[in-house]
Amino acid sequence: MDTKRIRLTVNGKDYEREVESRVNLVDFIRHDLGLTGSHVGCEHGVCGACTVLVDGISMRGCLMFAAQADGARIETVEGLAVDGKLNTLQESFWDLHGLQCGYCTPGVLMSLTEMLREDLSPSEQKVREVLSGHLCRCTGYQNIVAAALEAAKRLRESGAKA
Ligand code: FES
Ligand code: FES
Repeated sequence: MDTKRIRLTVNGKDYEREVESRVNLVDFIRHDLGLTGSHVGCEHGVCGACTVLVDGISMRGCLMFAAQADGARIETVEGLAVDGKLNTLQESFWDLHGLQCGYCTPGVLMSLTEMLREDLSPSEQKVREVLSGHLCRCTGYQNIVAAALEAAKRLRESGAKA
C-alpha cells in the first residue's frame, strides 16, 4: 500500500497523518479527521458538494488527493462559525431560507466565502456564476442568491470579514 505522511492545517488546527495515495481530500477530511460537514455527491467534480478552501481557493475535495494537500491550509464549513455562533453568511442563509435539505449547502457556503473575501459588492450575475459550480436539487437557487447578496450587504455595513 502506497502511503505518504502529510501535515496540514484544517480550520486552524494542525494535523499530521499517514494517508494512502489513492484517498481523495474530502474522504480524508470526513473519514480520517471526522469533519463530516463537507459532503460527497457525484465524486467526479460536477456537483460541488465537496467544495473546501485550499489556501483560500475553492477546490473540489473529490478531485484532489489528500497527499496533494501536504502543507496546505484547509477551510471547511465547520470553520465558519465563530465560538459556536453562525457567521454573517450562515446567518443570512438562516434568515432568508437559503437552503432546504442542506446537502449542497456546505460547498455553497465555501464558494461564497471565497467570493465575499474578494468582493463585498457582487452583482446578482456574479453570485449566479459562483453558484453555477454547485448543483442544488431543492431551492431553485433564488433564496441562495438572495442570502448571498444579503450577506454581502451585512458585511459591508458591519465591516466584518467573510
Ligand atoms: S462530490 Fe465533488 S464535485 Fe460532486
Ligand atoms: S438545499 Fe437540497 S440540494 Fe441544495
